[in-house]
Amino acid sequence: MKVVICDNYEKMSEYAARIVASCVTLKPNCVLGLATGSTPIGTYNELVRLYQNEELDFSSVKTFNLDEYFPIEPTNSQSYRYFMNKNLFDRINIPIENTFVPNGATSEARAECENYEEKIKEYGGIDLQILGIGQNGHIGFNEPGDELIAATHLTELDESTINANSRFFKSREDVPDKALTMGMATILRARRIIVLANGKEKRNAVRALTDDRISAKIPATMLKLHKDVTLICDKEAYGDRD
Ligand code: GLP
Repeated sequence: MKVVICDNYEKMSEYAARIVASCVTLKPNCVLGLATGSTPIGTYNELVRLYQNEELDFSSVKTFNLDEYFPIEPTNSQSYRYFMNKNLFDRINIPIENTFVPNGATSEARAECENYEEKIKEYGGIDLQILGIGQNGHIGFNEPGDELIAATHLTELDESTINANSRFFKSREDVPDKALTMGMATILRARRIIVLANGKEKRNAVRALTDDRISAKIPATMLKLHKDVTLICDKEAYGDRD
């Protein structure tokens, strides 16, 4: 795994955006895997800037998001569909029909997950996957456990994830307790992966990502099985090391 330690969140975001931009420039019809959460917001802002100032062209790009709460309406301001429209899709020239987020309002969760996997394959697979990382080491909503699930699936959220994400909701009770998420194999099939992490809350997760253990109890450690992963973090997340 390549590790890039940036001075701060801004530099981390610029670095990540440059990688995404070069992917889009080299392959204008590339397929991007996208993440939500507070971590990638800076990267999305920088991509918007590159679109506005340097005419970075998203008109042929396709995107697949990692996950979505369940159940939730796409119009709910806490849904990941809403988040993506607001933070990226509505601000660049990507046709909205080229953007895919699991449908958290479906009554057929299993079929939705199977279709999502099929759709990714149909578009040729993910060229570049952007990941954040949960404090407990989750990626997407693949939570720590004795075993992990390979394909896109419906999952229960960890207590710790509900607590961590409740900051975005009116109250903890409003946080959905389930989600639809790409599975570990879905994520690992991406040709290239970048993992973003900032702030001291992510230090334990980043440490686990950079030692040599692999465990289902820290799902992000599975990324060590992939041949092209770059961790881009700030100094706070990396911590002091000898
Ligand atoms: C959320 C998302 C993840 C995200 C993580 C970290 O629950 N499902 O995709 O990477 O938690 O979120 P944040 O970036 O806000 O710390």
